[in-house]
Amino acid sequence: MLNLFTDRLLVQVEKIDEQHKIIFSIIEEFYNVSMNGGSKENIVQVFNNLKNHLEQHFADEEGYMIKYNFENYEEHKEKHNIFMRKVYTLENAFKCEHIPLTKLAEANEFFSEGLLTHISEVDDKLGVFLRDKF
Ligand SMILES: [Fe+2]
Ligand SMILES: [Fe+2]
Repeated sequence: MLNLFTDRLLVQVEKIDEQHKIIFSIIEEFYNVSMNGGSKENIVQVFNNLKNHLEQHFADEEGYMIKYNFENYEEHKEKHNIFMRKVYTLENAFKCEHIPLTKLAEANEFFSEGLLTHISEVDDKLGVFLRDKF
């Protein structure tokens, strides 16, 4: 277990915090399956699950921003788009027969670092804005 999620990452909006926790648990699952010799099918399956949860989570956050007229919506949405572009690039790289270990290491670093940074630097501000709206 990596235990990436800590209370310091809470944005104090329950619906968002719950999704972040689930995403981190899938990131940990991806780490375990990709770094401990899981089969390619297994790796791709967990990767797809992670991708789907990220897409849904970003769409939900964007929905809240639109609903409550968040002033930094465009900027925040662009950060989501950049994040997903990298996910789709990795998805393409995973289509080859043998996924290189360096790609898996790159993916793991991107998911954990990328999400930690996004939550602490971007979602945190959205949390402050949304806190009294729910
Ligand atoms: Fe976000
Ligand atoms: Fe988020």
